[in-house]
Amino acid sequence: MSQLNITSPTTSSAIAQTLAGKKILLGISGGIAAYKCADLTRRLIERGAQVQVVMTPAAKEFITPLTMQAVSGKPVSLSLLDPAAEASMGHIELAKWADLVLLAPATADLIARLRAGMGNDLLSTLVLASNAPIAVAPAMNQQMHANVATQDNIQALSLRGMMMWGPAAGQQACGDVGYGRMLEPMQLVALCEQFFGPKPLAGIRIAITAGPTREAIDPVRYISNHSSGKMGFAIADTAAQMGAQVTLISGPVSLATPKNVERIDVDSAQSMHQAAMQHAPTHQIFISCAAVADYRPSQVADQKIKKTDDSDQMTITMVKNPDIVASVAALTQDRPFTIGFAAETQDVERYARGKLDKKNLDMICANDVSVQGLGFNSDDNALHVYWPEGDQALAIANKQQLAQQLLGLIAEQYKH
Ligand code: PMT
Repeated sequence: MSQLNITSPTTSSAIAQTLAGKKILLGISGGIAAYKCADLTRRLIERGAQVQVVMTPAAKEFITPLTMQAVSGKPVSLSLLDPAAEASMGHIELAKWADLVLLAPATADLIARLRAGMGNDLLSTLVLASNAPIAVAPAMNQQMHANVATQDNIQALSLRGMMMWGPAAGQQACGDVGYGRMLEPMQLVALCEQFFGPKPLAGIRIAITAGPTREAIDPVRYISNHSSGKMGFAIADTAAQMGAQVTLISGPVSLATPKNVERIDVDSAQSMHQAAMQHAPTHQIFISCAAVADYRPSQVADQKIKKTDDSDQMTITMVKNPDIVASVAALTQDRPFTIGFAAETQDVERYARGKLDKKNLDMICANDVSVQGLGFNSDDNALHVYWPEGDQALAIANKQQLAQQLLGLIAEQYKH
């Protein structure tokens, strides 16, 4: 299984034709990152791709059509209403031509128009008319990216199956720092190579648990935790994109089911345990990302518990829940390659390695959940992955990017 990272493997002077014959429609919208599209086009072509460039009117303010024509070696398409362009390759023909539509940079405006299904310029019309897979490389100010409207639009496009490539975090042209930078041309090239290349997890079945569990106290109250499910869902989404058949066993979260993922909704640790034990033996890999409650109330009241005047205290007796990942790892027949997570606030390596041993796991992914902005209910995380003979740190990144690196590591270890 090939290692997964978004650094292009093609660094030697004889450039491998990893994209030979692939037809890429590069849609450029009006952001400062548009200037990088000349380099992007050149690098795609060097690897054998044919690139047809389409620009929005605003994109022309950042890079000239003449430049893009020179690097792509093809006339650049600019307008829906250009009789000459329509006569050479009409917009429907262009939409059908592409093996991949790559929108880079994709501004907040383009993303919003795509979400609304608008066809008010050539590029948005082509997206509507194309059957090809679509990759979106967002690029915008970090605050615009964080805006709930943009996040909502990005989520809606992902749900429709569009691939979100980036953005990256860092210094922005406007001076801000944060998520919103377009991925670098070579990172986009590597993602194209990955997209067209062999799927490293093809034919592998992976079961993943995600989100929190809820342990009922009475019909209206429960004990739970802050897990949003984002980390587990990112792993499920990425694994499916890498060709795996994915079963996602999810606690109660408000996230959309990733494309090509079979989802099983559960509530309590006991119901998650039951679903995991039912499905794990038919999967080759089991990833336990859920934040499972270690204990549950020993009794669930039939009726809502009433506040009383005779005491200011209330005691709930708790009993231990089954340890799901340890139960899966203890399977004597059809035991999958089993990976746990460890949410720690101190002495991370010692506790994580302790869980690796005690639960008989093949790998464990430790996150320091005491770090603000990482771990529970955040978009970013950092992991330190341990296995019996080694370990690797995965630096802070958004959960989607981290999932990609983690699955690359799992694929490598699973082979051994
Ligand atoms: O969901 P997010 O908001 O994106 O947050 C992600 C996360 C912080 C929840 C995730 O990265 C993470 O760390 N998940 C594991 C949380 C946890 O419960 O850790 P733990 O150290 O308490 O448990 C160790 C392992 O045992 C975990 O794999 C856990 O899934 C598993 N476990 C724990 C208890 C139990 N009864 N059954 C289990 O299977």
